[in-house]
Amino acid sequence: MCGIVGYTGPENPKDIIMSGLKSLEYRGYDSAGVAILHQGQFKRVRAEGKLTHLAQKLDKESFDGHVGIGHTRWATHGEPNETNAHPHKVGPISIVHNGIIENYAELKSELQQQGAVFESETDSELVAHLIYQKNQNEGMSLFDSVLSILPELTGAYSILAVSEKRPEEMVAFKNGPPLILGASGGAVVVASDLQAIMPITKDVVYLEDDEVAFIEKGQVQFYSKNGEALDKATVHIDWSPEQVEKQGYAHFMLKEIFEQPRAVANALEPHIDLNSHTVRLKNVGFSVDGFDQLDQINIEEDFKKTDEVFKSVERIFIVACGTSYYAGMVGEYLIEQMAGIPVEVDVASEFRYRHTIIPENSLVIVISQSGETADTLAALRQVKKLNSVKVLSICNVKRSTIDREAHGHLYMNAGVEIGVASTKAFVSTLSLMNLVAMSLAKAKNNLDVVTENKYVEQLLAVPSQMEKVLAYDKFFKSAADTLKNFKGFLYMGRGINFPIALEGALKLKELAYMHAEGYAAGEMKHGPLALIDSQMAIVMLVPQDALYEKTVSNLEEAKARGGVVISIGSGEDEKLKKLSRHYLSLPEAGWTTNPLLEVLPLQLLAYHVANSLEYDVDQPRNLAKSVTVE
Ligand code: G6P
Repeated sequence: MCGIVGYTGPENPKDIIMSGLKSLEYRGYDSAGVAILHQGQFKRVRAEGKLTHLAQKLDKESFDGHVGIGHTRWATHGEPNETNAHPHKVGPISIVHNGIIENYAELKSELQQQGAVFESETDSELVAHLIYQKNQNEGMSLFDSVLSILPELTGAYSILAVSEKRPEEMVAFKNGPPLILGASGGAVVVASDLQAIMPITKDVVYLEDDEVAFIEKGQVQFYSKNGEALDKATVHIDWSPEQVEKQGYAHFMLKEIFEQPRAVANALEPHIDLNSHTVRLKNVGFSVDGFDQLDQINIEEDFKKTDEVFKSVERIFIVACGTSYYAGMVGEYLIEQMAGIPVEVDVASEFRYRHTIIPENSLVIVISQSGETADTLAALRQVKKLNSVKVLSICNVKRSTIDREAHGHLYMNAGVEIGVASTKAFVSTLSLMNLVAMSLAKAKNNLDVVTENKYVEQLLAVPSQMEKVLAYDKFFKSAADTLKNFKGFLYMGRGINFPIALEGALKLKELAYMHAEGYAAGEMKHGPLALIDSQMAIVMLVPQDALYEKTVSNLEEAKARGGVVISIGSGEDEKLKKLSRHYLSLPEAGWTTNPLLEVLPLQLLAYHVANSLEYDVDQPRNLAKSVTVE
C-alpha cells in the first residue's frame, strides 16, 4: 500500500524520485520521504502528510549524488508522522519498505536486547537494523547482508536498500507487493508500479517473490534468494502519458466517471462478434500452461478449452474486496439466473480463513482492479493448491500478480484508474460479468440465440445510454449543498440492483465520510426502518424489472416514515415521480444492464457531496488504492 521509487543514473535523483512518488501517491499519502546521496552520505528528508509537504522541504535541498530512494506511506505500524516516515536509516543503511513484517516484534526485542536503539514505531525500521548488523558489524556486502536476512523475515514485503559504504549500489527484494525495474542509458529505476518507470523506459522486468535484484552502475542482475543468478525476461509496455493526466477535469475521479462509456466499450470489444451479436470469451488462456505462454495462444483451441472448462463447472465462487466484491455480487445474480449454476460470493479476507468447501469442478473467479490486493491474492493461492479447480481472474492491471498467477485471464481494459475510489473499473467488471454469465449459460445450453442476441444488443447500447445518464452531473452539482446536510443516506434496491445500493453507500462513505448504508429493500423492515426520519435521505433503485412492484412498496414504506426519497428508475415513470422528492430517469435497459446505468448517478452523488464538503476526492483520508497488506 506504500509506494517505492529508487533511482540511480545520470539525472538528478531528486526530480525523478519525486515525479515517481507523485505517480504512486494513490498507494498511500499520509507521509513521504527520500534518502539521496550527498557528499558520500544518504541525506534523508521526510515530511508528514501529502507529498506536497515533502516537495516544499525539498525545494531548499540539493544533492550532489546520483543514487536515491523514496517512499510514500500508508501507515500500518505507527501513526503517520515524520519519525515513522520512510526511509529508515541505521548507520550507513537506508531502506524503504512496502508491506508488513509480521514477526517484527520478536526480532525487534532480540535486537534491543543486544543494544539496538529504534527511533520509530514501524515494523520497517527492523529491516534496516538487520541489514546494518550484517553489513556493519559482520562486514558483509549489502547484497550478502540482504541474502542473509531473508530467512529471518516473515510477512509480505518489497524493500529497496542502499548503503553508504558502497553508495553506487542498490538492492531490491520482495515477497508480496510488486517491484518492477527498468534500465536505460546507464539509469535504473525501481518502483512499485509502472507509472513511475515509464518516463525512463518502457522495457521492464517484474521481480518475483523470493528474488533479489542487485543494481550497480546502470546494470541490474537478478538472483534467487539463495544467490543463484537468474535470467529474467524483459517485457515491453504500451503506455501513453495522457492516461495519467486530468485532461481538464477537476479531479481524476470525475474524469474516470466520464470515461465509463469508453471503459464499457473496451471491456466488451474483444469478446463480442458485431455481425452475429454473439459472445465468445477471447484469449482466456485456459488452453496454455502458464501465463508466459499467452503470447503463443491458438485462438480456436482456446475458445474450445474455455468452453470445455465452462461445461464442466458445477459451482462458482467469486472472491474479491471492496468495489470489486460488489461487482462480484452482481455476477452472482447474472450467472445464477442465466446459467443456472450455484454461485457463492465472498470477501477475500473471509474466504481465505473460513475453511471454504470447494468441490471438484468448481470455478473460482477472482476480481481485482489492481491485481495486487493481498487478501484476494492469498485466496487465489489457496485455491490453486486444489488441482481440480480452475481460477479465472478479472483484472485491470495486466501482468499484475493476480493476473499472472490465475489459470484464465480477462481484462477490464478500463485504462489507468487513479482515483482511489474505483469507478470505471467497476462498470468494466460488470460488463465482463455479463459476458462470463452468457458464456457459462451457452456452455450449459441455457441460452438460446435470440436471448443471447438481445443481451448483447442491450450491452452494446450501454455506452451511449451512459452518456445520457452522465447529464446528472449538473443535477448533483447543484443539489450537493442540500444533500450534504442529511444526517445519513440509506441506499436500497432488490435483486441485481441490491449490490449497486451497497456500492452507492460505499462511495458516499469513502468520499464524503458520511453515514451511508446499503440494504436489500425487502430487508428494510428488519431494522433500517428505525433509522428513517426527515433527516434521512433514501436512495431507491427502482428500474422496470421483475421486482419493480415490490420495490415500489418498499419505497412507500420508507416515505410513510418521513424519509426524503430520491428514486432512480427507467424512463418516464409517473408513479415514482409522485412518490419521490426527486426522480432520476435512466434510459430503459434490460435487467442485465440496469446496474451499469444505475451506478453512475450514485458515483456523481458521492463525488459532488464530497466536493462540496471540500474533501480530497481523489485521495480520501485513511484509504489507498492498492491494498497490498492484510
Ligand atoms: C481498495 C480501494 C477500492 C477497491 C478495493 C479492492 O479498498 O480503495 O476502491 O475496490 O481496494 O481493490 P482491487 O484492486 O482488488 O479491485
